[in-house]
Amino acid sequence: MKFLKGLQRLLRESQASPQAIANYRQISDAILDRIGEKTTPKTFLGEGNFAEVYWLNSQRKKALKITTDPLDAYALQRVHNKPQRHLVKVYDVFEIVPRKLWGSVVEKLTSLSQSDKQDWDQFWNDLNSYLDSAINELNSFGLSPEFASELVDLIESEQEEGIISVEVPGDPILEALQNWGKELQALNIKIFDLHSGNVMMRRDNYILVDLGYGEVSATRIDKLLPNQDSSAEDEDEEWMTKGKGYYKRRSY
Ligand SMILES: Nc1ncnc2c1ncn2[C@@H]1O[C@H](COP(=O)(O)OP(=O)(O)O)[C@@H](O)[C@H]1O
Ligand SMILES: [Mg+2]
Repeated sequence: MKFLKGLQRLLRESQASPQAIANYRQISDAILDRIGEKTTPKTFLGEGNFAEVYWLNSQRKKALKITTDPLDAYALQRVHNKPQRHLVKVYDVFEIVPRKLWGSVVEKLTSLSQSDKQDWDQFWNDLNSYLDSAINELNSFGLSPEFASELVDLIESEQEEGIISVEVPGDPILEALQNWGKELQALNIKIFDLHSGNVMMRRDNYILVDLGYGEVSATRIDKLLPNQDSSAEDEDEEWMTKGKGYYKRRSY
């Protein structure tokens, strides 16, 4: 997807005003200004239900993510303030259209190898088809360190008992789950969505790139979104939620 076309599409999808949609070139200029680039990104890196990601032309270790997903923007903002080893590095988060569209500058990561991708997809499918109770728990509580440990035990015992017939991938994925559990808990972010499209590589490490499909406690939303009405001052008091079907998803 070419950058300007992608931006237009996201503006439409975010239900920005007709005026904003018409002014996409100015909006693009404002984005470039903010991220310190002279030209629109040439290389499209990927897309999901909410975001498009482009490689920056002059800052080769960085990528621009544009998303219609407020939860991903809030969560990335939180990672920006408090970086974590196994989550994507975040250099900047900003509003493009107030309350509709957000931009972030993140580290440019590499894709999973074909075999890693198969492992992840298999893991995720196994989890969904065999471990109903685990998935229910994941959907209710997110990926906590305790849950990650329980999950690892559960997977190992189900394997031993032959309940999981297909081979679940080994240690690196289970280790990644445990690292993410700890780091997400430290940031007060709940994540449910662990499919392979949300996982990338930094050298040999699995890195989580999509922090959107879950919940973020609502502290500091005001800072990121000055126009937002939010009375949530208290950490843990109010959660922005997406994982339970409040948001319509486009596709996978
Ligand atoms: N830091 C990154 N570096 C390179 N590509 C990325 C990065 N983050 C995301 N992508 C690509 O963009 C896609 C969509 O990003 P994601 O964060 O999953 O957005 P969505 O909320 O739309 O699912 C990913 O599947 C991946 O292909
Ligand atoms: Mg995604």
